[in-house]
Amino acid sequence: MTPAAYDGSVAFTLEDLPIRDDLRGQSPYGAPQKHVRVQLNVNENTHPVPDDVADDIVASIRQALATVNRYPDREFTELRQSLADYLGHDLSAEQLWAANGSNEVLQQLLQAFGGPGRSVLGFPPTYSMHSILASGTGTTWIPAQRDDEFRISPETVVAAIEQHQPDIVFLCGPNNPTGTPLQIETIEAAYAATDGIVMVDEAYAEFMPDDAPSALTLLPGRERLVVSRTMSKAFAFAGARVGYMAAHPAVVDAVRLVRLPYHLSVLTQAAAVAALRHAPEMLAMVDDIKQQRDRMVTELRAMGYRTYETWSNFVLFGGVADPHAAFESLLERDVIVRDLGIPNHLRVSAGTEEETTAFLDAMRQVAAEQPPVRVGA
Ligand SMILES: Cc1ncc(COP(=O)(O)O)c(C=O)c1O
Repeated sequence: MTPAAYDGSVAFTLEDLPIRDDLRGQSPYGAPQKHVRVQLNVNENTHPVPDDVADDIVASIRQALATVNRYPDREFTELRQSLADYLGHDLSAEQLWAANGSNEVLQQLLQAFGGPGRSVLGFPPTYSMHSILASGTGTTWIPAQRDDEFRISPETVVAAIEQHQPDIVFLCGPNNPTGTPLQIETIEAAYAATDGIVMVDEAYAEFMPDDAPSALTLLPGRERLVVSRTMSKAFAFAGARVGYMAAHPAVVDAVRLVRLPYHLSVLTQAAAVAALRHAPEMLAMVDDIKQQRDRMVTELRAMGYRTYETWSNFVLFGGVADPHAAFESLLERDVIVRDLGIPNHLRVSAGTEEETTAFLDAMRQVAAEQPPVRVGA
């Protein structure tokens, strides 16, 4: 017997519930999940995990299942050591912390250092979850202005910190959704201007130029600096949900106060440790993805669109006369991109060579339907 669908005729919504006042009228994170042939909307790595790595991960999970009747290692010691080894920079396991995606790491940080009566400063347009996590933890989100081309100069970050005196500063480098590099000097200036926590979200770090310094280089001597990373992007592990941070061990002690006990399952830990054993192979596609990203930039420009410097695995492009219509038109051609509500702009993730070609071909047809318009400088 098929279960009856919920009777939608009952006109009762979440607004009728005794929900927290500050959550009324809010929208959940909502990147559309559609089954489309060319999925370039959430900055995933579109290359699957290589077969031999998958075999090793499965063998590790099989072994972990032997202990699944017990709670997992609450401190995920082996995983933290593997992450420290992967990152280098003389980091030790005590400085590493992981959770189910870097979203959860950021949530734990806000639970420990934010909360009612506290604030977090961010620089939109930036990763939409930063403000959503602030709202979920009752932390006041303070949006500050960026400079031209979505950059943040040291002067700009210091002025915003002095004006707003936030408890936490969220920086994102490279920034999502713009791809903009984050200068190391901006991070240094932000840290010097506040007594609060400075969190640098480096979800796309592996796509930066090889000689670009990471915020990890700034960790020594900066006890309030946190660098967040993820296995979701360059590591092709989005579905496994593994994100992590590097910071002073005292910051790790702080998030331990708010984490759920045993938050990382034994299966997640086993899968992540196994994947990290194959880091070079897991990251083998990064160069290929960067090439496709650069190809998108060149060809979109040739079509008359405006692009921005990007150090990530996606491209924000402007000059789209009607982004909503362009999004729908691409969807009809089995290509999904992201419409973030930035006027005249769309964002597209770099795909495989074939996916990138499909996107560019579809975009040429969109450009014929609605010729690019001039935006900004
Ligand atoms: C800047 C940024 N940070 C964090 C995340 C979340 O990553 P995770 O899958 O590790 O939760 C994303 C995902 O798109 C992102 O763009």
